[in-house]
Amino acid sequence: MVRKFFIGGNWKMNGSVAQVKSLVEGLNGVDIPSSTDVVVAPPFIYVDRVRTHLKREIGVAAQNSYVKASGAYTGEISPEQLKDLDIDWVILGHSERREYFTESDDFVGEKTAHALAAGVSVIACVGEKLEEREAGTTAQVVTRQLKGVADKIKDWTNVVVAYEPVWAIGTGKVATPDQAEEVHVTLRKWLADNVSKEVADATRIIYGGSVNAGNAADLATKPNIDGFLVGGASLKVPDFSTIIHSRL
Ligand code: G3P
Repeated sequence: MVRKFFIGGNWKMNGSVAQVKSLVEGLNGVDIPSSTDVVVAPPFIYVDRVRTHLKREIGVAAQNSYVKASGAYTGEISPEQLKDLDIDWVILGHSERREYFTESDDFVGEKTAHALAAGVSVIACVGEKLEEREAGTTAQVVTRQLKGVADKIKDWTNVVVAYEPVWAIGTGKVATPDQAEEVHVTLRKWLADNVSKEVADATRIIYGGSVNAGNAADLATKPNIDGFLVGGASLKVPDFSTIIHSRL
């Protein structure tokens, strides 16, 4: 089964009007291989501007969305509103949201279901903390997080799973290709055993955590690594471009 390579750029809470303009101009000059999906996720306030000015070969994602279509939910954004702006993707369950905004597995699952129902595709993130890895509970943690999503959805066509070990995020301490591959295999097996073999074969599982222009190609050689979710390096167009072209 050939799964289309997927590269996401998560800009997190970074950027200004000037920086976003320069990133978009830079990205518009990057050749996007037809074998690769590329999606960037600016902060909410820049999403509309990015979608308007970025070439259509590159998708745009939000970094979060809520479980209602509209109403008295101050500060929240619905997937229906994202759709209204032509935003086709959303990142959900990022470890920073789980950690700083106490998002539970169940809530991430609920948000995933709501986004998919609104027609917005989801990059659903899972990943263990350092102490969980050291305690030998990595597989347990990531499959529990994946179950939070699986419990709430039936159709996985528009879901990409991102494995982002928390200890590798923004630390410069990238997982080795073998470490990442091992967890991707665990996740894929869990999908095969608990959802279906078809879903397990077709669902893209991407890796995130200190991916850069120097280590992406090596990680991309692994059969179960279907792309990357990139933080810091996605803010540098030449580096992000190298990562986009990292699978030979
Ligand atoms: O979502 C991407 C991210 O958490 C990884 O960040 O800066 O380690 O590439 P970074």
